[in-house]
Amino acid sequence: MPTTLPTKLVPTEASLPPLGVYVHWPFCAAICPYCDFNVHLMRNSQTDPADWLVAYRRELAHAQSLRPQGRVETVFFGGGTPSLMSPDLVAGILSAIDEMWGLAGDAEITLEANPMSAPETHLKDLRAAGITRLSLGVQAFDDVALKFLGRTHSAQDARVAFEAAQRLFPRASFDLIYARPNQTPDAWASELSAALDLGPQHMSLYQLTIEPDTPFYKHQASGKLTLPDEDSAADMYEITQSLCASAGLPAYEISNHGADGHACRHNVASWQGGDYLGIGPGAHGRVTSLEKRARLSSVAHRSPTEWLAHVEDQGHGWAEQQALDSESVEMEAVLLGLRLVEGVGLDALAARGIDLDAARLAKLREQGLLSPNTARLQASPEGRLILDHLIGQLLA
Ligand SMILES: C[S@@+](CC[C@H](N)C(=O)[O-])C[C@H]1O[C@@H](n2cnc3c(N)ncnc32)[C@H](O)[C@@H]1O
Ligand code: SF4
Repeated sequence: MPTTLPTKLVPTEASLPPLGVYVHWPFCAAICPYCDFNVHLMRNSQTDPADWLVAYRRELAHAQSLRPQGRVETVFFGGGTPSLMSPDLVAGILSAIDEMWGLAGDAEITLEANPMSAPETHLKDLRAAGITRLSLGVQAFDDVALKFLGRTHSAQDARVAFEAAQRLFPRASFDLIYARPNQTPDAWASELSAALDLGPQHMSLYQLTIEPDTPFYKHQASGKLTLPDEDSAADMYEITQSLCASAGLPAYEISNHGADGHACRHNVASWQGGDYLGIGPGAHGRVTSLEKRARLSSVAHRSPTEWLAHVEDQGHGWAEQQALDSESVEMEAVLLGLRLVEGVGLDALAARGIDLDAARLAKLREQGLLSPNTARLQASPEGRLILDHLIGQLLA
């Protein structure tokens, strides 16, 4: 039986959270040895755009039956490598969203791209299909590191692709991975400075994590791969914060840096508890259903073939759909809210039925792990360094 929200917490149509759509494209031209996302090698026989458009449309229609209200404010094509999608498929999905809900006039529509599938003509077609924000997976501006990361592009290919993205899209961003084996803090500082010289308004800067069941995991276990020690990794994190802040791109989230007004609206809304529909293989979603008086979580089948078969049979590829209980809602709000540098307002949490223990908050403020602002749940700079510990203390 679904867990329904207490009457006082059921939103009205006017107070529903903003709506976004996450669309997962699960294919890549090559699989990188560090990546544990839901990714599959692209084969033309499996990826006919017309078949995928039918399936995406059906799943969108199912999602619309659960959350029909509101215009869509943000769309995020994530992957995998969505720059391998045909522009017609992207345009078809956007027009389905527009027909079903209406796309806000100023909607943010992001697409993740790999430099190898981002020639200028293709980027132009993606822009014409409606993409307003391109997020490019660069990973490193160092050819030796790119090879180590299993990437098939050079640093120069990435520069050319990013410069084209800057010309063609209202917003452009790139991802880098740092704290790589053998990378020194000095080497990272010069790589990051060179990256900042390209004049980005937004960057996602991730420390390399070794994920189970990846080739890197096996290399680490056999001693072939060693990450920088904790002190070097902490130095690299500090360098990241200070170089980006001096260049006018302070962190607004653990790994995301942007100039004023350039934060990714889609991700910020989801960290603040907004609704997002999860469309496509392996996608996760969160939607408030007025009819079911509940916040629903959905997780789709990960295998593209299985997902397509389920969509054909039952109109959606969701393997799980359940109402979140109040404990999960609270845990998620704390976990996600604390990722944001500005945190979340305690009144906004209270409106969602989340009342955190006041004595515990006061103690963590006293310890300097939470900011002194009593109106917000916000990690202090020291707290952000040990976020897992802080979250553990709050939710214990
Ligand atoms: C979906 S990919 C981006 C687009 C495209 N697939 C590409 O790689 O060019 C999302 C991002 O997650 C980051 N990422 C993936 N696995 C990671 C790991 N193990 N450690 C750190 N960052 C990782 C990479 O920076 C990557 O660009
Ligand atoms: S990092 Fe990007 S290109 Fe590499 S496997 Fe993951 S999703 Fe695919």
